Amino acid sequence: MSGKGILSVLILLALQSLVGGDYIPPKKYDGFVYKNRHHLSYDTIQIEAFYDPLCPDSADSWPPLKKALHHYSSRVSFVVHLLPLPYHDNAFVASRALHIVNSLNRTATFPLLEAFFKYQAAFFGAPTRNLSRAFIVDEIVKFTSAIVGNSYHTSIKNGFNDTNSDHLTRISFKYAASRGVSGTPFFYVNGFALPDAGNALNYSDWRSIIDPLIGAKKSTKNEESLHYLL
Ligand SMILES: *[C@@H]1O[C@H](CO)[C@@H](O)[C@H](O)[C@H]1NC(C)=O
Ligand SMILES: *[C@@H]1O[C@H](CO)[C@@H](O)[C@H](O)[C@H]1NC(C)=O
Ligand SMILES: *[C@@H]1O[C@H](CO)[C@@H](O)[C@H](O)[C@H]1NC(C)=O
Ligand SMILES: *[C@@H]1O[C@H](CO)[C@@H](O)[C@H](O)[C@H]1NC(C)=O
Repeated sequence: MSGKGILSVLILLALQSLVGGDYIPPKKYDGFVYKNRHHLSYDTIQIEAFYDPLCPDSADSWPPLKKALHHYSSRVSFVVHLLPLPYHDNAFVASRALHIVNSLNRTATFPLLEAFFKYQAAFFGAPTRNLSRAFIVDEIVKFTSAIVGNSYHTSIKNGFNDTNSDHLTRISFKYAASRGVSGTPFFYVNGFALPDAGNALNYSDWRSIIDPLIGAKKSTKNEESLHYLL
């Protein structure tokens, strides 16, 4: 390539990054709030999860965390941020489906996330290797409609033809990057990263993390678990 050619490519890249940046900062804070438990209250413990809907470890980590959320009820708020990983095929498409559904019917977002966790094996790796992007989008539209209701089929299909859902999914990705997250699942509690979050945290792990924070059962055992966060 000539010097001039390289220069025009560089200018083009610079222009593209300007265009890509025009939705940062976003209109709305990234994330799906669980059961409308708002995270802006300073009186609740705030848990944030970074999940990839097509990540098996994310799927494994959700049931024990969900059980803990139900145990603590309104004392804990919970937000999911999506991080579609480049090495999980079709994770971006699945994440886009979640953003589309979240803007159509917010209550359907978590049921859809759970459905992706349950049936994720059909959407990545060998079973999809020879399938076109268009075919996968079509399959994900059908799957999503089956979960949230077929009356939404056209809206979901149109959602994939709308740059807004693409932007929202990019914002999720960029938000995860801005928090220094590069793998899933990854958790923050009250704004601090949980160490060793790569290992699946079971229900008792969550209890031993959160109990000391809400002052439940003051014992030396709990003081030790508090140090786990330090
Ligand atoms: C929104 O989704 C929830 C959960 O799937 C469902 O119960 C509710 O009927 C939906 N609302 C509408 C208007 O479709
Ligand atoms: C994908 O296509 C290749 C080449 O046509 C074929 O050998 C392979 O078996 C196919 N894989 C699947 C999972 O269909
Ligand atoms: C997507 O939208 C464009 C216009 O915004 C329209 O021309 C095109 O037919 C749409 N494609 C689908 C598959 O709906
Ligand atoms: C939960 O995981 C911890 C390790 O993180 C382990 O020591 C403990 O036995 C596990 N508890 C259950 C009930 O599986």
